[in-house]
Amino acid sequence: MHPTAVSETAERLDSGIADLAGFRDPDRPGWTREVFSESYRASRDWTMRRMQDAGLEVSVDHAGNIVGRMAGRSSSAPAIVTGSHTDTVDGGGRFDGIVGVLGGIEAARLLRASGATLDRDLLVVDFLGEESNPFGLSCLGSRSAAGELTPGDLDRQDYRGVRLGQAYRDFGLDPDRLTDVPWARRPLHAFVELHIEQGPTLQQRGLPLGVVTAITGIERVIATFTGSADHAGTRAMDDRRDAMVAAAEAVLAVRAEGCGAPTHGVATATRVDSESRSPNVVPSLVRMQSEIRSVDSTWLSGVRGRLSQEIAAKAGEHGVDVEFDWSTDNEIVHAAQSVQDVVASSADALGIPWMPIPSGATHDAVHMASLAPMGMIFIPSKDGKSHCPEEWSETADIALGVDALVQTITTLDGR
Ligand code: GLV
Ligand code: MN
Ligand code: MN
Repeated sequence: MHPTAVSETAERLDSGIADLAGFRDPDRPGWTREVFSESYRASRDWTMRRMQDAGLEVSVDHAGNIVGRMAGRSSSAPAIVTGSHTDTVDGGGRFDGIVGVLGGIEAARLLRASGATLDRDLLVVDFLGEESNPFGLSCLGSRSAAGELTPGDLDRQDYRGVRLGQAYRDFGLDPDRLTDVPWARRPLHAFVELHIEQGPTLQQRGLPLGVVTAITGIERVIATFTGSADHAGTRAMDDRRDAMVAAAEAVLAVRAEGCGAPTHGVATATRVDSESRSPNVVPSLVRMQSEIRSVDSTWLSGVRGRLSQEIAAKAGEHGVDVEFDWSTDNEIVHAAQSVQDVVASSADALGIPWMPIPSGATHDAVHMASLAPMGMIFIPSKDGKSHCPEEWSETADIALGVDALVQTITTLDGR
């Protein structure tokens, strides 16, 4: 590619990342732009304008996904889809998801600028609310597109008791239309998502690109511990039913589970809440939220049984009862070998060194995999930091990822 084009791409990526970073919740740390928030709502108009500036025809589907279309020669041929998300986690960074949306828009712009017309439509998507939310469900937009958002999901409640369906309504989306699956009516040729690695492997190996092999499965649990409220100054230590102590044992049990995983496996207690407000009362009701991830299905499928048993046994030692509310956020998903091969050969053709890599983070690609052969391209994350303000990827690496994406789309178009 011409050097001027390369630096223009870098400039557009940089300014796009900076502009989007301006849409953040001023009361929260980092670059917080959570789904259904005001900062997210405002950022979406910017994203639509960015797509229009790149010459894409923009629409928003019933699920709230922003779709930019670059028309191909045949509008009836199965389309190629790329994209990611622009929402962030509380206290999150500027690159997770954003690189895939801005990179997808830039790929379309570069394809247009080169005078190439694809045979197929190219759809660049900013999926609604990919990050997990207080309703415990990630990938809202891609899940809806794939017809995997259920009416039961819409009844999930956050910590304040607000239903997910109501959150959609408050955001201006009709929850009754989400399970009407617009995407499944149109056959798709392939889905490919550009994303930051969010881990340290590519940087450690000194490689600019990862070809994703599989995406982790995720199990989540809310454990509710019920003990007995008592005066913290008078109830003897050996005569307590302390729900907080049982929850603390559970936090350590979750960690031990992750440490005992045979291959890839991680387990994290992410939140503990006590109903007790007073500093002088033995806690009687405590909730602990955790998630467990792996690309090893044998290990992950046994996790519910193992952890429930261990946590209940420990709680029993403290005279505390426990109830579990388990849910699967997503199953383990493998990238299509055909798309992995195209990404790898595209990187080879451009002289970009790469390695195969599993993803410990989840992605919209998980759900798009049920609509089309799926693949992902990873670029390095500085020090493997992600879901925190320090999240960083070098512009040159992002631009290289965009090059690989353009080549991948072009090759897939001819298949
Ligand atoms: C999303 O980034 C997730 O892996 O939870
Ligand atoms: Mn992401
Ligand atoms: Mn994320």
